[in-house]
Amino acid sequence: MRAIGKKVRRIDAIEKAFGKAKFTNDMNFPKMLYASVVYPGVAHGILRSLNVEKAKEVEGVVKIATYKDVPNNEMGIVTKDMHVLVPVGGKIRFEADPIALIAAETKEAAEEAAELVEFEVEELKPVLTIDEALKDDPIVNGERNAAFHRKIRRGDIEKAFEESDLVIEMDFETGYQEHAYLEPQSVVAWWDGNTLTVYGSMQCPFYVHNDVAEVLKLPLNKVTVVQMETGGGFGGKEDVPSYIAVKAALLSYLTKRPVKLIYSRDMDFRETSKRHPSKSHYKVGFTKDGKLKAVKATVYLDMGAYSTLTPIVMYRSVTHAASAYDVKNVFVDVYGVYTNKVPTGAFRGFGSPQVLFAMERIMDEAAKKLGIDPWEIRYKNALEIGKETATGHLLEESVGAKETLEIVKEISDYDNLKEEVKKFNEGNKYKKRGLGWSHIIYGVSLGAAGQFLDASSGEVHVKMDGSVLVMIGGTEMGQGAKTVMALIVSEILGVDVENVRVMQPNTSIVQDSGPTVASRTTVFSGNAVRIAAERIRDNIIDYLKSSGAEDIKVENGYWIVDGKEIPFSEIAREANAANVKLAEMGWFSTPRLKYDFETGTGEAYVSYTFSTQLSLVEVDLLTGRVELKEAWVSHDIGKVLNPVGAEGQVEGGVVQGMGYAISEEIKHDEKGRMIVTNFNNYIVPSIRDIPKVHVKFVESPFSKGPFGAKGLGEPSLMSSPPSIANAVSDALGIPMNRLPITPEEVLLRL
Ligand code: MTE
Ligand code: MOS
Repeated sequence: MRAIGKKVRRIDAIEKAFGKAKFTNDMNFPKMLYASVVYPGVAHGILRSLNVEKAKEVEGVVKIATYKDVPNNEMGIVTKDMHVLVPVGGKIRFEADPIALIAAETKEAAEEAAELVEFEVEELKPVLTIDEALKDDPIVNGERNAAFHRKIRRGDIEKAFEESDLVIEMDFETGYQEHAYLEPQSVVAWWDGNTLTVYGSMQCPFYVHNDVAEVLKLPLNKVTVVQMETGGGFGGKEDVPSYIAVKAALLSYLTKRPVKLIYSRDMDFRETSKRHPSKSHYKVGFTKDGKLKAVKATVYLDMGAYSTLTPIVMYRSVTHAASAYDVKNVFVDVYGVYTNKVPTGAFRGFGSPQVLFAMERIMDEAAKKLGIDPWEIRYKNALEIGKETATGHLLEESVGAKETLEIVKEISDYDNLKEEVKKFNEGNKYKKRGLGWSHIIYGVSLGAAGQFLDASSGEVHVKMDGSVLVMIGGTEMGQGAKTVMALIVSEILGVDVENVRVMQPNTSIVQDSGPTVASRTTVFSGNAVRIAAERIRDNIIDYLKSSGAEDIKVENGYWIVDGKEIPFSEIAREANAANVKLAEMGWFSTPRLKYDFETGTGEAYVSYTFSTQLSLVEVDLLTGRVELKEAWVSHDIGKVLNPVGAEGQVEGGVVQGMGYAISEEIKHDEKGRMIVTNFNNYIVPSIRDIPKVHVKFVESPFSKGPFGAKGLGEPSLMSSPPSIANAVSDALGIPMNRLPITPEEVLLRL
């Protein structure tokens, strides 16, 4: 092929490396105001009074907005359980629950005024843990703290336990993870008295579009949202930019001037979403030869003060709770629990890392108890065509699960590696090495619970000179979506990748394409673009035929007309002069999935990515420090469209998963105030911590994927935490069932 599967430079590399790409903070308009946000600093209470008189006197302050100024103050992506601004008499549910907004001529004035807003809060007892929340005393939000529930009821769980030779029961806990994108939440909004334009850093321009229109009670066709270059999202810019955008949009609406709101890192930590902390109890049954019989799990996710995306996150937790195995008796309950802390939501893996960690830890414990190699027990239970997932989805194609296990075993030279680790441990008293496996499944795209959003648009315009413009609703946030789109167009139209430009999404130009989440962009935007490009190719072929050409081939990305290779620029010029339609729109959606929400069974997702990781760690018994030395990873992603980008996703995912597993931790004081709010004490991996990562892909094509591709953005992270936790457990000979495995945790367990 000309482009697909070839090593290319990412199409946005130069503009980003040279600082030419425009981020939200680069947007400046005449008469632009700067915004700040007022937080109560109290985790739970009733807002008794609010006085903005002193703040108003600060020179340069133009507007102070409170709840009275919000046209529609009810907000929330799944349930309307939050406010844009807490009203007087209303409840404050976490320390950074916004109570007022300020617009001023300078950032300094806005910040000074924010300090001068006076308010009284009648404090209530803050609910800070899942255990406290389950007592419902007090209730944080709604009618009960464990407000959301999803389940799977498949097979006969009790009978399956009776028939099991080994039953393992264990408890697990996981902590927060902050997205740590380089660029904090940022937005510029401009209401000109007639239409509103919002420029921002985001994953989901169509969410922002809906939310801003709803809060300001504007019709959607009067609101335009433009996604600016986005310095990382990782799920943290899925719904959150809506909450940021409505603030700037409201201030602009009230002042009729452009308003810029850029979060500081401290604000971003305190107010915006994280990965859900979790607690879970697992009971899993095996036969004596290691065959999985039954998985029973109860999982609690700490959703913080507002539900935001939790009900959707829980869908992934429940469907991934039994990991990547063939098991017919499955009984899972997942609860979303309110607490008086920052609302948690989407984070790469979306509710699956918590449960995959638990299930994969159990696979290792079972292997140990049964005297089976941890690789073997996974291979024995791995899925294949003709088998059913834990939700009972019969797999008919694209199941490279066993191949990923085989490849990792091979590229790591596993049998020798085990020997080396054993030797190392015999020769070292205070340093111990360990190996850990994980084998996981990832349901591609939104699945049955989100299928109403699962369609995407892609427009392709061929210019007279043969350069190509592509418009999609999916966003680039560093993961390489633009380059994948360019590769697809390049392959189909026979244009060089460098001659394809992918525009920033604009909601007034592109039809609602759903969110850029769930690793769906390659499949959804990719297919939409493929369809559009194929239509243009066919239009050109029709024209060439009508003008006398007899033998037209577009082979491996090259045009061969009557035996002669013709460059695309020439073809485009000629077709344009002949009035051929060189602009097309593609639309992609998938057939309805059959899934029963009562039993949690059926076709949960359109397709699945399968992944295996082996990690080698070294633990220092004197300091408790864990080092990930090397990782071997294989993913079945259907087809590798962009090899360099795909490897990059895996390397980044392994490292981000490593941070979650061993170093990243957020703590609160006893009053519910976050005490980790910047990178001085929130420990993300740095370049020194990056291990050697060996990646090899399996290509088991998905018939509905573009060129056979599935998704990789999230599984690249998901395989990492359980594999590392298993490796540490192996090194220490202690089951490590709590994340993160910080040095303190290691020493405590030792
Ligand atoms: N990679 C980079 N560099 N930056 C990101 O923000 N987000 C991740 C993943 N990889 C992210 C990333 C998340 S949470 C998702 S859902 C996918 O990319 C989204 O992109 P995709 O649909 O193109 O896979
Ligand atoms: Mo990714 S958590 O689905 O944005």
